[in-house]
Amino acid sequence: MRVIKCKNYDEVSEAAARIVAAQVTMKPDCILGLPTGSTPLGMYSRLIQMNKENKLDFSKIKTFNLDEYFPISKDNNQSYHYFMFENFFNHININKENVNIPNGETDNPEGECVRYEEAIGAAGGIDLQVLGIGQNGHIGFNEPDDYLESATHITSLTQNTIEANSRFFDSMDDVPKKALTTGMGTILKSRKIIILASGKVKAEAVRSLLSGKITTQNPSTMLNLHSDVTLIADEDALS
Ligand code: PGA
Repeated sequence: MRVIKCKNYDEVSEAAARIVAAQVTMKPDCILGLPTGSTPLGMYSRLIQMNKENKLDFSKIKTFNLDEYFPISKDNNQSYHYFMFENFFNHININKENVNIPNGETDNPEGECVRYEEAIGAAGGIDLQVLGIGQNGHIGFNEPDDYLESATHITSLTQNTIEANSRFFDSMDDVPKKALTTGMGTILKSRKIIILASGKVKAEAVRSLLSGKITTQNPSTMLNLHSDVTLIADEDALS
């Protein structure tokens, strides 16, 4: 695993935006795998800026988001659908038909997971997957467990994640308890992966990731099985 050591959050965002920009420049019709969360916000705002300055063209890219709460309506301002349009897609020249996010409104979640996994394959697979990392080492909503799922699936959020995400909701009770998420196999099939980490709250998860050992109790450690992963982390996350 390559490690890009950054001083702070701004440097993490800059390094991540540069890699995404390089990918889109080299392959204008590439498939990007995208995350939500606080960490990628700086990267998204830099990519928006490059697009506004006509330095980067998103008109041909396709995107697949990692996950979505379930159940949740698309216009709920805590849905990942809402998040992605608000923080990225509404501000760039992407063709909205090329945006893919698991459908948290479905009444057939199992069917939606199969459809989503197949759609990624039919598009040709993900060229560059951008990841955040949970305090407990989750990636997407692949939470620490004895067994991890390979393909896109419906899952229950751990208490740790419900607490971490409750900062965005009025109360802990309002946080959805389930999610639709791409699986470990879906993520590991990506041709290239970057994982972003900022802040001391991520230090323990990052320490375990960098130990090189693999445990399902920290799903991010499975990235050690992939041949093209770059961790972009600041001093606090590496502390
Ligand atoms: P964060 O979330 O970027 O808001 O810290 C990361 C994650 O939970 O994957």
